[in-house]
Amino acid sequence: MLKRLPVILVPFTLLACGQVETEVPSPPPVSAPEPTVEVADQPPPPLEVRGVTTLVDESPEPDVVEVSLTAGVTQVTIDGKVVEAYTYNGQFPGPLLEARQGQRIIVHFTNALPEPTTIHWHGLRIPAEMDGSPRIQSPVKPGETFTYDFVAPDAGSFWYHPHVRTNEQIEKGLYGPMIIREPQDPRVTRERFLLLDDVLLTSGGDFAPFLQSNMEAMHGRLGNTLLTNGLVNGQGLEDVVRSGERERWRIVNTSNARTMVLTLEGAEFQVVGTDGGLLPQPYSTERLEIAVGQRYDLEVIYFAPGEVKLQSWVLTRNSSGDVVEVPVTVFTVEAAAEVVNAAPVEWKGAPLPDRAEDETVTITIDAVNDPQLGIMWRLNGEAHSHTPLFTFPEGRTVRLRLSNTLGPEHPFHLHGQFFRIADAGGGRASPPGLKDTVLVPGFTDVEIVAYMDNPGRWMAHCHILEHAELGMMSELVVEPKQ
Ligand code: C2O
Ligand code: CU
Repeated sequence: MLKRLPVILVPFTLLACGQVETEVPSPPPVSAPEPTVEVADQPPPPLEVRGVTTLVDESPEPDVVEVSLTAGVTQVTIDGKVVEAYTYNGQFPGPLLEARQGQRIIVHFTNALPEPTTIHWHGLRIPAEMDGSPRIQSPVKPGETFTYDFVAPDAGSFWYHPHVRTNEQIEKGLYGPMIIREPQDPRVTRERFLLLDDVLLTSGGDFAPFLQSNMEAMHGRLGNTLLTNGLVNGQGLEDVVRSGERERWRIVNTSNARTMVLTLEGAEFQVVGTDGGLLPQPYSTERLEIAVGQRYDLEVIYFAPGEVKLQSWVLTRNSSGDVVEVPVTVFTVEAAAEVVNAAPVEWKGAPLPDRAEDETVTITIDAVNDPQLGIMWRLNGEAHSHTPLFTFPEGRTVRLRLSNTLGPEHPFHLHGQFFRIADAGGGRASPPGLKDTVLVPGFTDVEIVAYMDNPGRWMAHCHILEHAELGMMSELVVEPKQ
């Protein structure tokens, strides 16, 4: 008998290779009197975000968002089996932290885990002491607390996760979504946050042992279960909307290692934002590739009634042993026939910085055999380097050539700064917009142009968490202007 679909066979890739809806306005009566009194602009109602629960703001101050997060061990149910997970506030994934650009965010963090941890605010260009780097902040011990306190500098979709023993802590459920809002939100009907994950579970339902195979050390931990907001293939997250509505979907890939390739059936979408917020110009694509750590914001338009399916394409073997790419549905929406006509949305992010490049440097990625760990991943010949790869003066515009000398791919992540992808490598089109993570395919050179504007000591690492734990972790220094 077939196992309950759609749990995927292991290993399925050895090959890692509101304005609320407005009804169509009827024409005003011809004799409508001119309004004589200016009506003050009412702030529009906050946009609803579906799929996640939002942290309660404990602060009465309008410019402060103050929340509490506790990391702890919680029994959650995945695919009908009880799993001992790591959670924020008992939730898998953690709750949504929502703020406006320029607001001060205060997070009262308590560690109720049996091991030390930190929280890293992935993508936020905040001061280095608040970044959750265990190289700067000493990890919060079990039973202890820490207060993160920073101002949100950029609008966009971000996520938070620990930066200690990440391959285990994140896999077990420690991650959550963040929205930093633009001063004026594009008025879609509503928003959603989809956190895509890929976990490796045993048949008993536990997290499989960590770093026990060469495959996992080589390609990262590729899972056998796709989760959307903690639910297997998004089952339980289904929703019903009305045809003609428009939504903003914020998507993050929180997997340890799996690059996601997504398609959408039954609705139209365009890409409106990425790691660094809204794009100057939306674009259309059939297949959306999201490397680990990256975010994409989509405008989804339910142009017709019917079933809408978000699918993730994964490699697997068919019954004759051939490798095939198959779609796994990770989220479904039913667009009911109740037709509305949501006003077109204006998407306009700031243009990218127009800056001359000051210099070019190279980071070479390779690996060596290690008697203990099996393999050690290196950046410029060093594993787990505490010597900065480079030191730049603040404000420097640097072209970084990421030279991958081996077969496995690497989603390279830079803390504290944004960059643009200048050359995605291998003749591939470069995704536009500001990024903090870029995929470097096997045996390929990728070039990014980074804006070194945020002074401090910053981690620079592979976001395949096993690679990071096995050495592919270094740092860059940006020296403050005098
Ligand atoms: Cu998502 Cu070093 O982080
Ligand atoms: Cu890597």
